[in-house]
Amino acid sequence: MIQTVIHSTARGAADAVALFLAECIQEAPGLVLALPTGRTPVPMYRALVRLHRQGRVDFSNATTFNLDEFVGLPPEHPGSYHAFMKRHLFAHVNLDPARTHLPCGDAPRPKQEAARYGAAIAAAGGLDIAVLGIGANGHIGFNEPADALPAGTNVVTLCRGSRLGNAAAFGGRASQVPRQAISMGVGTILSARHVLLLATGADKAGIVARALQGPVTTRVPASLLQLHPRAVVVLDRAAARGLTSY
Ligand code: PGA
Repeated sequence: MIQTVIHSTARGAADAVALFLAECIQEAPGLVLALPTGRTPVPMYRALVRLHRQGRVDFSNATTFNLDEFVGLPPEHPGSYHAFMKRHLFAHVNLDPARTHLPCGDAPRPKQEAARYGAAIAAAGGLDIAVLGIGANGHIGFNEPADALPAGTNVVTLCRGSRLGNAAAFGGRASQVPRQAISMGVGTILSARHVLLLATGADKAGIVARALQGPVTTRVPASLLQLHPRAVVVLDRAAARGLTSY
């Protein structure tokens, strides 16, 4: 069952998600969060940093696991999701570095690293809240549309569109974007106690409508959220405009 919340602007949607997360962390300081990267969550992180500076959220006991990381990139690579998280959140709030987790993109054996990452999530007690974006093709994490999807953390091959979508951090050249990533699987995401998906902008309207109101199919990985008992999708008006009723 997906609950849909629509804000008039992208900024409003991002602020609402940030405020919700801040309140959850204030209530339960030891929360375990899954965190996304991409263009969409940037204003959400900006709002979280603002709330932290205002003394309205203390991250010191929270634990974070990012959804994914590119295979082959060291954490210092500016296109890595390690670098993204540092830039947009970790450098500005009081998260304990020992409690912030991303897959090691440059691990010598990516499959082993995926298994280690999955085990680390389980050892932390699983995810309390998974915060997600949605790819233009409906991916969540880097679980790309396919006939079958991995349940657990795995090495995945990126679609051309996903590589294009990440080209900006690689000098605008999709060919420079790694071909593989380590991503949390859909089973791990769906086992989060709460799922919160943020999508903004007109270019997401079509895929949001398919994910929320189309059939549940691995061809639209975000449609699997329809099976989650506590999934909330936060949209701006532009991203909601393909929905038939809400
Ligand atoms: P975007 O990416 O926010 O850059 O559109 C979302 C995603 O791929 O999950």
